[in-house]
Amino acid sequence: MIKKDIIYKGAEAEICVSKYMNYNVVEKRRVHKSYRINYIDDKLISSRTREEAKLMIEARNKGVSVPIIYDVDLISGIITMEYLTGKRIKDILNNLSEKKRQTLCKKIGESIARFHNNDIIHGDITTSNMILLDDKVHFIDFGLGEKNSEIESKGVDLHVLMEALESTHSKYSDCFKYVLEGYKKELKDDANQVIKKIDEIVKRGRYR
Ligand SMILES: Nc1ncnc2c1ncn2[C@@H]1O[C@H](COP(=O)(O)OP(=O)(O)O)[C@@H](O)[C@H]1O
Ligand SMILES: [Mg+2]
Repeated sequence: MIKKDIIYKGAEAEICVSKYMNYNVVEKRRVHKSYRINYIDDKLISSRTREEAKLMIEARNKGVSVPIIYDVDLISGIITMEYLTGKRIKDILNNLSEKKRQTLCKKIGESIARFHNNDIIHGDITTSNMILLDDKVHFIDFGLGEKNSEIESKGVDLHVLMEALESTHSKYSDCFKYVLEGYKKELKDDANQVIKKIDEIVKRGRYR
C-alpha cells in the first residue's frame, strides 16, 4: 500500500502526495458535498475533473509550464500529476530583490499571454496557484478555468491577479506593472484592449 500524505484540504478538493510508478506525484481529489444530491454530485465531480485536466494538457501543449498529468480518474474525481517541489510565488515574492521580482513578474505576464493567445482562461491566477521550479513559473489549479476568446474574460483573468498582488504583496505595487509588460510582449493581439478592460473592471468595482 502506497502511503498518502494529505498536504492540503480545501472546500472543493484535497491534495495528497503519493507515488505513481516511480514518480513523486500529487493527487488532486475532488471531495463530495453532502448537501448535493449524489447523482448530481458525481456528475459535477466528473465534469470538473475532466475540464481541469483538459485545460492543463492544452496549456502544456501551448508552452506554459504546468504539472505533467499521469492519470485522470473521472469516477473518483482524481487527477494524478507531477509533484512540483518548488516554492509558491506567494511565499517568495516579497523576499526577492527588486531586480528578481521584476524578472519574475514579467515571466508571469508572458505565461498568462501564452494562455490567452490560445483562449485559455485560467480563472484563478493568484500567487498561491503559481509555483517556481527550475527557474520556471508553473501554473496549477485550473479548477475555475475555461476556454473563452472574449477580451472581457481575459481582462477578468488579469484583474484577479491584480487584486491578489495588491492584497498579498501590497508593499510591491509595481508588480502588476511588470506583469503587464511581460503580457504585452507576448500577447499576439493588442494587449491595450485587454488593459482597457481591466481599467473598466476596476471602475465598475469602484462605483458598485
Ligand atoms: N502539482 C502540485 N505540486 C505541488 N503542490 C501542489 C500541486 N498541486 C497543488 N499543490 C498544492 O496544493 C494547494 C491546493 O491545490 P489547488 O489545485 O490550488 O486546489 P484548490 O482548487 O483547492 O485551490 C496548492 O496551493 C499547492 O500548495
Ligand atoms: Mg488553489
